[in-house]
Amino acid sequence: MSPNGRGRSAKPDRPGQAAPLADRSATFIGSFPDPATPLDPALPEIAVLGRSNVGKSSLLNALLGRRGMARVSATPGKTQLMNVFRLPDFYLVDLPGYGWARASATARRGFRQLLEGYLTGRPRLAGVIWLLDIRHPPSSDDLAARELLAQTGRPCLTVLTKGDKLPRMRRALALQARAEELDLPPDDLLVTSSRTGEGIAELGESIRAAIAG
Ligand code: GTP
Ligand code: MG
Repeated sequence: MSPNGRGRSAKPDRPGQAAPLADRSATFIGSFPDPATPLDPALPEIAVLGRSNVGKSSLLNALLGRRGMARVSATPGKTQLMNVFRLPDFYLVDLPGYGWARASATARRGFRQLLEGYLTGRPRLAGVIWLLDIRHPPSSDDLAARELLAQTGRPCLTVLTKGDKLPRMRRALALQARAEELDLPPDDLLVTSSRTGEGIAELGESIRAAIAG
């Protein structure tokens, strides 16, 4: 996946414009513990992956323009199952957050198995949106997830979340730092904010492009 549409506007998006999937019907299909669960009908899938509390559910809500669609929590680790949302022509999958500090060893193993199973086993997986908090260097769990993504060869778009949390200068420095840590050009990173809507329209375009194949 590539960060489409970036650079077309230097101004942050206005929240009113920023729900690219809001005009389309979206329904919650269910929460599944088994990553091999088949979805009927079979359609392309776009998954959202990232550590617990990074803002996965908030980002899905911003994309869908529906506040309570994916559950947002201040308590990390709430989404322990894969949560599936159906759009007319594809599925959005909210994967469980990894790296929850207080998770037991068993819970961690469970997360990892679900993630591995999902990333390796889904025939219709069209792209993964991998989220990192713009304010923090990637953790060892983040790097392990990246390794897994690389091994499975799934198309991936790296997205920095919570862009609104940093003032302009610190934000530019943080973007540069994250790019260096990830060994990626800064242009390959899409900065988003579920709060202001920044980057959400571009993310919507990347999803469109990914499901179009
Ligand atoms: P788990 O489901 O536990 O893995 O977390 P998650 O990745 O789904 O994160 P969630 O969307 O629940 O957000 C976690 C916290 O971060 C909540 O308190 C959100 O309100 C906050 N948050 C998420 N996105 C943003 C953002 O863009 N800006 C700001 N300021 N806060 C955000
Ligand atoms: Mg969540």
